[in-house]
Amino acid sequence: MKKQNIISGIHQYRREVDINFHMPGHKGKNEPLGEIGKNLSFYDLTETIGTDDLHYPTGFLKDAMTYISKVYGSKKSYLVVNGTSCGIISSILACTKPGDKILVQRDCHKSVYNASILGDLELQYIYPEFNKKHGLNLSISTDKLDQVLSSDPDIKMVVLTYPTFYGICFDVKKAAEIVHKHGKILLIDEAHGSHLQFCKDLLPLPGENSGADIVAQSTHKTLPCLTQGSVLHVCTERVNLNRIETMLRMLQTTSPSYVLMASIENAIHWMEEWGKERLKKNIEVFNERTLELRNMGINVLEQNFLKGEGVFDFDATRAVFSMSELGITGTRLQEILRYEYRIQMEFADLQYIVGYITATDEPEDIHRLFDAVREIYIKESKTKEKRDTIQIEPFPFVKQEAKMKQVFYAENTIIDIDESIGKIAAEFIIPYPPGIPLICPGELIDKNTAEYIKIMLKNGINVNGVYNNNLVRVVK
Ligand SMILES: Cc1ncc(COP(=O)(O)O)c(C=O)c1O
Repeated sequence: MKKQNIISGIHQYRREVDINFHMPGHKGKNEPLGEIGKNLSFYDLTETIGTDDLHYPTGFLKDAMTYISKVYGSKKSYLVVNGTSCGIISSILACTKPGDKILVQRDCHKSVYNASILGDLELQYIYPEFNKKHGLNLSISTDKLDQVLSSDPDIKMVVLTYPTFYGICFDVKKAAEIVHKHGKILLIDEAHGSHLQFCKDLLPLPGENSGADIVAQSTHKTLPCLTQGSVLHVCTERVNLNRIETMLRMLQTTSPSYVLMASIENAIHWMEEWGKERLKKNIEVFNERTLELRNMGINVLEQNFLKGEGVFDFDATRAVFSMSELGITGTRLQEILRYEYRIQMEFADLQYIVGYITATDEPEDIHRLFDAVREIYIKESKTKEKRDTIQIEPFPFVKQEAKMKQVFYAENTIIDIDESIGKIAAEFIIPYPPGIPLICPGELIDKNTAEYIKIMLKNGINVNGVYNNNLVRVVK
């Protein structure tokens, strides 16, 4: 049997790919990792005399958190070693009691749903606006947010994603005002927004400066930090810090990696010292190239175009392309880039491909991506092959039939997707990435949803919760 499978697998990947537009934000480059990248074992410590304690910090870990809080302008910031998933779950459990109701964006990350199982919470959904012409979820409407909160005073907390996976941003300042007018707590899932703080004149307003109460960020996604490194910011007096700290202690390991924690602080420091300017330069290249490609007729997301479609703001570090009008799915376009151009994106859905541009990319890397997309477009526009335009539909509206926690412990059985229509899902069904549940435990599987799942599978999208490409778990 082959040994060192992981190491050889990683070598194989690195041989196949020249540049990547996926996380972690350091992009496999050692330079922004500084000292940490040179001597891993030196920095890999444990909690002992003189090395502080993540759960009760009083020494250099506390100083690191104070430094991070100053940079981001929060009231208090926490190092999180188990990703934003942990920051989100801790925050939700800290602000609610079992049986409470929270308002969440339907296309939120699965960690929000997991928190509702762990905390025995009831979920009320706010659906994102869907742009059918472009097959895009355009984030939430603040007017709708106001309406929902006015009609349901039982809601305790609101959880919104900002920016979305596709870089789309709602008016976060207005959302915070609305949530506070109704006396609720606002948690912003800013997993994709650690970098917003470092280029404020060219990027959307950071959630932590918007009036939001809590902001959870994946430092590892958009800054040069090792995978899993995250930060949780508490930004207002409305949050009970003791509850947040108690939940973080419950959910985080008692052996936090010092390499990871050092890498979080180092990434933020690197951004302050060197990354800011580099990010600015990359955004300028990005803006120039997106305009050029849009003028050629290529569907690449760009600020002015999106504003024309009613979007409040756009994160110009998201490279989002589609060639669906040429009959090319996002998954196919991603494959062409990978196997013909040695470029790997972050993810693909039926219609779009998405890539992250960070401060660690070189402008030449961005040019290479845009040149490749332009070349593919020109070639594919000339093809004689008859293809249908790919059109994505909005996520189907779903009906909650039973509480998630109750269903989670109920007996279940596995059946064919076609036979599952009219039955209650026992597990999450999640196209991955981006990890947004199509169906949650307790929701009714209807014909539209079953069809939607089948279209995803047919087009090579990985759907978690579907076994053998046709089986799902339903409540017995
Ligand atoms: C919107 C969103 N929120 C939260 C998360 C979870 O972040 P992490 O992977 O750092 O746990 C993700 C991960 O992809 C995400 O896309």
